[in-house]
Amino acid sequence: MTALKRLRDTTIEPTHYRGILQLLQATWPSQEFNLENALQAFLEERTVRRSVPDFQRRRRYIIMTDDRVAAHAITFPRTILTTGGPVEVTALAGVCVAPDLRGGGLGRQVVAAAFADQPETGTAICLFQTGVPGFYRRLGATEVHNTFINGRHPEGSIANPWWDEWVMVFPADGPWPAGRIDLNGPAW
Ligand SMILES: CC(C)(COP(=O)(O)OP(=O)(O)OC[C@H]1O[C@@H](n2cnc3c(N)ncnc32)[C@H](O)[C@@H]1OP(=O)(O)O)[C@@H](O)C(=O)NCCC(=O)NCCS
Repeated sequence: MTALKRLRDTTIEPTHYRGILQLLQATWPSQEFNLENALQAFLEERTVRRSVPDFQRRRRYIIMTDDRVAAHAITFPRTILTTGGPVEVTALAGVCVAPDLRGGGLGRQVVAAAFADQPETGTAICLFQTGVPGFYRRLGATEVHNTFINGRHPEGSIANPWWDEWVMVFPADGPWPAGRIDLNGPAW
């Protein structure tokens, strides 16, 4: 059985969060990873940030299969600085499907759900980076080619803050400015 769940970080059950951590680790392995420490760190962050509006707006999209988290995406608000002034966008990150379940439509389901909630986020645009643009193009996103910087880089670097090859927005016909864009913090 598979079921899509929309969850908030303010109320997510530790068991779901543990499953998300396991899926993220299976997708992007980190040598320092420790499941229980990572869960504990999240629960402590939640205690501290529960009343912060941006934390309250974090959304998780997961699909459970046989009691494990098989697919995941997260969205949260970010204010970027464009040549026309500050713009709040919806950041999309952490899109992944368990390696043994890829190609079965689960990735499409979590991303389509996140995109479908776009109007409810109060922002006109969802912004993200990716190495698989074709997957997102099928869902209505398109590549953008602005110069990006992080104006809050601790050492003042103006290097491209994204690490994936493509930067994309959804919807493809949404309002997207030309010119340089300051992510006003690290990329996601
Ligand atoms: C990318 C990923 C999330 C796709 O999930 P998935 O469940 O395998 O994909 P789906 O089965 O839902 O595919 C939906 C459609 O996208 C296509 N697609 C899937 N992966 C694709 C890729 N890498 N490139 C281009 N198209 C792709 C599928 O063929 C399918 O097309 P269709 O609509 O014509 O049938 C998954 O492969 C994954 O977790 N990869 C590793 C982590 C990663 O790269 N995440 C993206 C970070 S931005």
